[in-house]
Amino acid sequence: MARIVGGLTTSHIPAIGAAVPKEKQLVNDPYWKDFFAAYPPAREWVQKVKPDLAIVFYNDHGLNFFLDKMPTFAVGAAAEYRNADEGWGIPTIPPFKGDPEFSWYLIESLVREEFDITSCQEMLVDHGFTVPMQLFWPNLGYNDVKTVPISINTVQHPVPSPARCYKLGQAVGRAIESYPQNLKVVVLGTGGLSHQLDGERAGFINKKFDLMCMEKLVSDPESLARLSIHDLVREAGAQGTEFIQWLAMRGALSGKISALHRSYHIPISNTAVGVMILEKAA
Ligand code: DHB
Ligand code: FE
Repeated sequence: MARIVGGLTTSHIPAIGAAVPKEKQLVNDPYWKDFFAAYPPAREWVQKVKPDLAIVFYNDHGLNFFLDKMPTFAVGAAAEYRNADEGWGIPTIPPFKGDPEFSWYLIESLVREEFDITSCQEMLVDHGFTVPMQLFWPNLGYNDVKTVPISINTVQHPVPSPARCYKLGQAVGRAIESYPQNLKVVVLGTGGLSHQLDGERAGFINKKFDLMCMEKLVSDPESLARLSIHDLVREAGAQGTEFIQWLAMRGALSGKISALHRSYHIPISNTAVGVMILEKAA
């Protein structure tokens, strides 16, 4: 049977996509040093655990889905996912490997559980997906893992509630753990933490709220699932709603978990960056 080994979280920011290929030069750069210092523990954990499959909760930013067609929950079912992120002079990278067989198992399971998802046999991915994969599997190490992207809308209101995303994560967790193949599965939640990119509160960051979220994500995720989207906008900024991706990830981790690593850094670009490793007890 498939087994969930744990969860990883990170913020995703286009500027990181441009920094990743220059990491060797930037590890001692005053601006980037503390950011890159957060990743070696997560990379070592990934190296040790060697997951076969990564399920990635993230949000598309208007690349594959735009305002004309905006699925609330979109599940990838492609054999590969090509990076088509915008600008920043990022180099071309090889596509990410899919797992259509698992994707269809997951899609059938979610629809049976009354989640009306959009299945995507073609899906371009942006920094919400590619930056975390490159950070946790550096130097194209992501070639060794299959992936299933799950995009949850945070771009156009109405955005699904934290409670609904937590429940989606729980349903994804059940699907993984009933999959008859012998796979080690890691679940990623990417986005956040607090940030607002435009409007009167552009540049808004709320450290106190972010640290509370990182604490409760481990100890009491249900209390976070009781927040409304308006609570998240108020406390974490208009784009801070991306935290629902972290909650979906946490929903997939039932049973006992331990936080092996947490780090928090302000800012990269306009954003607070949080990284966590949540290991699930065997
Ligand atoms: C930025 C963009 C993002 O998608 C995000 O989640 C955080 C920050 C940015 O450009 O600053
Ligand atoms: Fe984002």
